[in-house]
Amino acid sequence: MTYIPNSIEARDIASLVHMQTNLRKHQTEGPLVITRGEGCRIFDNAGRDYIEAVAGLWCAALGFGSERLAKIAYEQMRSLGYYHLYRHRSNEPVIELAEKLIEIAPVPMARAIFQCSGSEANDTAIKLAWYYWHAQGQSQRTKVIARHMAYHGNTCAAVSLSGKPDMHAGFGLPFANFKHTEFPHYYRRHEPGESEEEFSTRMAEALDSLIQAEGPETIAAFFAEPVMGAGGAITPPAGYFAKVQAVLKKYDILFVADEVICGFARTGEIWGCQTYGIEPDMISSAKALSAAMQPISAVLINERVHKAMLEQSDRFGNFAHGYTYAGHPVAAAVALEVQKIYAEIDIVARAKRLGPVLQSALGRFRDHPIVGDVRGTGLILGMELMRDKAKRLPFDPALGVGTRAGAAAQRHGLILRVVGDRLVFAPPLIIEAQEIEEIADRLGRALDDVAGELEREGRR
Ligand SMILES: Cc1ncc(COP(=O)(O)O)c(C=O)c1O
Repeated sequence: MTYIPNSIEARDIASLVHMQTNLRKHQTEGPLVITRGEGCRIFDNAGRDYIEAVAGLWCAALGFGSERLAKIAYEQMRSLGYYHLYRHRSNEPVIELAEKLIEIAPVPMARAIFQCSGSEANDTAIKLAWYYWHAQGQSQRTKVIARHMAYHGNTCAAVSLSGKPDMHAGFGLPFANFKHTEFPHYYRRHEPGESEEEFSTRMAEALDSLIQAEGPETIAAFFAEPVMGAGGAITPPAGYFAKVQAVLKKYDILFVADEVICGFARTGEIWGCQTYGIEPDMISSAKALSAAMQPISAVLINERVHKAMLEQSDRFGNFAHGYTYAGHPVAAAVALEVQKIYAEIDIVARAKRLGPVLQSALGRFRDHPIVGDVRGTGLILGMELMRDKAKRLPFDPALGVGTRAGAAAQRHGLILRVVGDRLVFAPPLIIEAQEIEEIADRLGRALDDVAGELEREGRR
């Protein structure tokens, strides 16, 4: 593609580094420049509309523009545009937001600590796990376990926690004390005849074996997303979290639930922890916390962790941790208003009502010739593209079938997320039933295009 000099695309290519992007390809292909958003739709600079079926990066829960939230940010900037939480300083919006989060937490939580992103939330939770064990006189508990294909962010520690080899390659990561156990992708990885419960038992046994091999006395914490998002919208199979939690309890290992995607009704309850009976010691949240209108994240900590923090603070005279913008009053005011909107529109009831609509509209594609499986919960869903669904045979990865489907969807005005040959959907939580039908309609045309293309190439 050749762009006119000084066009917005040419200026992008000449000035920006894009994340999670093939940088060389970007030099020739250039960007998709989004200029405007309205509800679940975004518009590019040529005026084309797209339904955003993954809420940007799973975060724009209330869609892509809001007069009401703009006014809140404006008013807050006028009255107090910045103040921090260091050295006993505080501000009103962040106090109210902390109270709100503690009130709606899925299990009793003692305090909220703020950051600006999901990665920073997980970094904070990792540090707090280490801090906790230092306070217990068990400073040898330095290892942290997460799952293969987990995504917990991209700061050095959060990406080490993540189990995605593509994000470690070339960076010399993960750090040595981050370990990864099996991930519960039942559809792809179950043995013939193995039930979900049996598969979950195998997953929990694999975790137990890893803990044994590393030495239980060296493990500080286990991190898990209730539904694995960037790993492909992988919902846990039956019994999974009950069995995993039993293993963690046996060795007294802290459990951190990464609710960065699941938090605030994505799975049909406020928290994924409620959907799956998870009782964590800490929760990291971000994204829908502010409906992505401001960068803010929070870690909720239980009394056990908080008590240890008080003891450490006594010992060292200070809780020596923080970020300049943590607890930013503008971000907090917007997040607080977002929480009010969620209550007004009863976001949980909405997700409960529209979740089944999404699951059934996209579930129809189970019969499509290149779709092997469709699985999700609430307003998150993963669709596996397979060469032979009866035999569960995948496509040759070199064919890039998932990428083709993503590109075809974009041509038909649909933005979705591609993870290998898995298509992922997590639309804004304000989506309406007829927009879900539009997603299904545009997706159907995209899948037919790809199936036809593969047929012509003799790949099916
Ligand atoms: C489950 C999960 N945790 C953490 C993160 C990192 O959040 P951020 O990109 O805000 O740093 C993400 C981002 O997608 C995520 O999906």
